[in-house]
Amino acid sequence: MSQTLAPSMQPLAGAQTASPLVSVEGVTLQYKTPDHLVTATYRVSFQIHQQERVVLLGPSGCGKSTILKAIAGFMPPVEGRITLKGSVIASPGPDRMMVFQEFDQLLPWKTVQANVAYPMLVNGVSKQEAADRAADALTKVNLAKFMDAYPHMLSGGMKQRVAIARAMAMKPDVLLMDEPYAALDALTRRKMQEELLQLWDDVGFTLVFVTHSIEEAIVVGSRVVVLSPHPGQVRAELNCDHLGFTERDTPEFGQLAKRISGMLFDDHAVAH
Ligand SMILES: Nc1ncnc2c1ncn2[C@@H]1O[C@H](COP(=O)(O)OP(=O)(O)O)[C@@H](O)[C@H]1O
Ligand SMILES: [Mg+2]
Repeated sequence: MSQTLAPSMQPLAGAQTASPLVSVEGVTLQYKTPDHLVTATYRVSFQIHQQERVVLLGPSGCGKSTILKAIAGFMPPVEGRITLKGSVIASPGPDRMMVFQEFDQLLPWKTVQANVAYPMLVNGVSKQEAADRAADALTKVNLAKFMDAYPHMLSGGMKQRVAIARAMAMKPDVLLMDEPYAALDALTRRKMQEELLQLWDDVGFTLVFVTHSIEEAIVVGSRVVVLSPHPGQVRAELNCDHLGFTERDTPEFGQLAKRISGMLFDDHAVAH
């Protein structure tokens, strides 16, 4: 009998064995203010594989946004390095698109369609292709009917959907989301989380999602990177791919949430 396994029998090229899409290696990030130096994160390391949904979870001020800014290429590490597909990230690029918390990230004088098409046009995509990709992305976030509306005519949740469509239409290697639902009411927030997971099922993108909500982290993430309070250090990495909305009332979900809560509120677990 042949030693070669049939294709269906080959071990899966699991996310953890393939080389990472993004690798954050011993990254320290600092802000220089006129009178002092603020260390936002200290020697943070984690990896992001293709099609993972990695959540950065930690208390306010622990450096979550700063890490996203560094992955986006806006801030060079003072120590360590961040690579994308093996190359050190040195500047921003259309391969990393960001969605922010604020509802005012759209251009108010442009229609929804024009907002979504704009980054593509700036990056050399033809007018026709940009229009097609914008229409497709807006359909995926259920806003096809609002293509000609202006941002001021939309609710907060709808504006965030447009921002997501705009980022997705660029087909980035990685989508970076910084507390995108934090300013929404609880019901809309839950709906948006469900829609994001549905979109991920449909498209299969790679996501780095920042939140300070434990429940949101477990629902949205396939893996959660728990950060310590300021300056942020990695306290734990937890797999929660099997825990979503439907598991929310299960003992396992509750136990994981409790464990994370213990980590977040125990200031002495990491020596500074
Ligand atoms: N532009 C800045 N200048 C100086 N310090 C900053 C700046 N932005 C953030 N910080 C500080 O860096 C730390 C991390 O901030 P941030 O990444 O925004 O945290 P998070 O997103 O987890 O709430 C905080 O102590 C914050 O005060
Ligand atoms: Mg932040």
